Order: sequence, then C-alpha cells, then structure tokens
Amino acid sequence: MTKCALITGITGQDGSYLAEWLLQKEYQVHGIVRHASTSSHGRINHLLDRITLHDADLLDASSLRRVIERVAPDEYYNLAAMSFVPVSWEQPILTAETTGLGVVRALEAIRQVNPSIRFYQASSSEMFGKVVETPQSESTPFYPRSPYAVAKLYGHWITVNYRESYDLFACSGILFNHESPRRGVEFVTRKISRAAARIKMGLDKELRLGNLEAQRDWGFAGDYVRAMWLMLQQEAPADYVIGTGRTQTVAAFAEAAFARVGLDWQDYVVVDPRFYRPAEVNLLLSNPQKAHAELEWYPDHTFEGLVHMMVDADLEQLGSGVVGLTSTKFAA
Ligand code: NAP
Ligand code: GDD
Repeated sequence: MTKCALITGITGQDGSYLAEWLLQKEYQVHGIVRHASTSSHGRINHLLDRITLHDADLLDASSLRRVIERVAPDEYYNLAAMSFVPVSWEQPILTAETTGLGVVRALEAIRQVNPSIRFYQASSSEMFGKVVETPQSESTPFYPRSPYAVAKLYGHWITVNYRESYDLFACSGILFNHESPRRGVEFVTRKISRAAARIKMGLDKELRLGNLEAQRDWGFAGDYVRAMWLMLQQEAPADYVIGTGRTQTVAAFAEAAFARVGLDWQDYVVVDPRFYRPAEVNLLLSNPQKAHAELEWYPDHTFEGLVHMMVDADLEQLGSGVVGLTSTKFAA
C-alpha cells in the first residue's frame, strides 16, 4: 500500500532531498510551507507537480493539527527550524518558539489526531556543543553553546519524553553537519564553495571568514535523509547519531575548495572577527557505530567528493547565470 509522509521544512536543504528520496520510494509526499511575500520554493520547484503543499506554521499549533487531520500521514518528518546558529543570538525567543516549542506543537497534534503516526525529529550535533567526550555518540552528555542548541535540546528531550510517556513511535536523529549544493549561502561550506567559484570567475576578490580552526564532521545531505527514513522503518523507535566519523577544519574545507579551481586559499581568505561567535563549538566528531549496526547506514560521499560537488555546482550556476538557491539573508 502506498505510504504517505508529511514534512515540515520541505523547502529547506534536507526537506528537498527527503522529498526526492520518499518519491523514489513511491510515497505520497506532503509538505508544510509558511506564508511569505516571496516564494521559498527554489529547492523544490522541480518536484511541485509530484508533491502537495499545505499552508501552516510551527508557531501555530492549530494549523499543524488541521494539516495532520487532512493529510492523515503514516510518517511525519519535522525538519523545520530556525537553523542558522548566529541568528539564534539575535533572535533567541523566536528560535526557542520555532526550533524548540515547534517540536511539542507537532507532537501534541500527532498525539491528539493519530498517535500511530511515526515521527522523526531533526536533532543536532550542536547539542554536544562544548564536548565532554570525543567522538560523540548517543550516550555522550550534552553541553549546548548557543540559543539554537538549547532549543534543539528541548526538541530532542520532548521527543524522547513523548515516546516514553505516550508510546509514540518518535525518533530523534542527532545529525552532524551535512551540506550540498542546496545549502543556504550563509553556512560556512556554501559560503566557501560559492566564493571560490566567484573568485575564479573574477566576480569577487576575497572571502571573509571567522574561526578557521573550528572542526566539523561534514557529510552530504543526500546521504543523511536516507538515515532519517531508515529510523522510521525499524521495529522500535530509537535515537541515532549520524555522521561520517571524520572531522576537518574550516581551513581544510577552504583549502580543498580553492584547490578545486586551481587557486591557493591563503591568497584570498581574510579572517574577520565579525564572524566569530559569542560561544564557539570547537570540535564535532561523530561515532556513528549504532547507525552502522542497526540501520546499516553508511555515507556514500567522502569529504573531498562533497567539496568538489559543491564547488562544481557553484561554478555551473554562475556560468549559467542562475542565481543561488537562497539569497544572503544574513550577514554571515
Ligand atoms: P534549512 O535549509 O534552514 O531549512 C529549514 C526549514 O525550516 C525551511 O524549510 C524553513 O522554511 C522551515 N521553517 C523555519 N521556520 C518555520 C516555521 N515557523 N514554520 C514552518 N517551517 C519553518 O535547514 P536544513 O539544513 O535543511 O536542516 C533541516 C533540519 O535539520 C533543521 O531543523 C536543522 O536545524 C536540522 N539540522 C541540520 C543540520 C545540517 O547540517 N544541515 C544538522 C543537524 C540538524 P522557509 O523556507 O519558509 O524558511
Ligand atoms: N557561517 C559561518 N560563516 N561560519 C563560519 C564562518 C563564517 O564566515 N567562519 C568560520 N565559521 C565557523 C563557525 O564559527 C562554525 O564553527 C563552523 O564554521 C560551522 O558553521 P556553520 O556552517 O554556520 O554551521 P554550524 O556548525 O554552526 O551549524 C550547522 O550544523 C549544525 C549541526 O552541527 C547548522 O546546519 C545547524 O542547523 C546544525 O544543527
């Protein structure tokens, strides 16, 4: 029988890849979009004739409930959030409302309408923050370092709590950083890949970055949405760390991206303290053993493959005159 999935955050990077994955698995795919004066459908334009969109907002519990009643999904993926860490210091309360309380609004709607709906929550390695052990696994204690991470921690624990309180099939995927050509241009990987392409084409002269020594466990978003789906196909709900098990510095990403276009990154990158954060997460490195053993999930893409994919896509977009998928809404 055809399964039906509902995605909050379908217009985002992960939402677009998850929708593609579920369509390939022959799901009926529905997505929640919030109203805006300009369309945010850039990442899903190519899917619009195969998915159904509904107006709702994580800030509005009644709108979520109405859509869940209408769609009657088998699976609900909550990927929606205010996801850019620096903005969470500028808008901590909105971040808590969306990224934190938005999760319990979705869970409450599911509990009241149909508690058999399987639920995925997009938790984050940012919750490990000032890490207390390395590598980080499902049993590593959390130490959030931003209003975003604090809000994600609420979303994580309320998902666990609804599973334990109401027996919901609710899973929390603790995903490490994952990137793609569809990544928002304010995140550091896309900022770098786009700048390398623009500098190569003579459109820019320099790239201003913050902390070059920060280390992240970077993977490809297309691989990670597969893990989300796998979690909801298991016999019992659980939480999983998803990452590559390798970490790289921001400087290494810049070096690889500029090398892809035949340039030396050190000739173009300028350190600008404007991009430092009030509290930094210095090192993230996953231990994805549980996902390997129970989900049989492994990433298909390497760090180098990811960097090349992103730089090549930015070169192609600039060459074809197509403007980036997301405009630079923020200063980072
Ligand atoms: P993204 O590109 O920033 O997408 C965020 C999505 O949330 C967008 O579709 C956005 O809609 C939607 N949204 C924001 N506020 C909303 C609201 N009030 N109501 C309904 N929808 C709202 O993020 P992503 O990279 O795809 O990440 C997906 C999820 O995974 C996020 O929850 C993120 O925090 C989490 N996560 C991401 C990573 C990563 O490395 N990418 C790692 C761990 C966890 P608009 O298009 O209207 O803005
Ligand atoms: N954005 C940005 N811009 N980051 C910079 C810059 C810059 O100019 N220069 C250095 N960095 C450093 C940041 O200080 C951070 O340590 C690292 O690059 C990564 O920053 P982002 O790409 O903005 O991602 P993030 O790690 O803060 O958060 C992403 O990953 C989380 C999972 O760990 C987001 O996708 C979150 O939503 C996600 O939860």
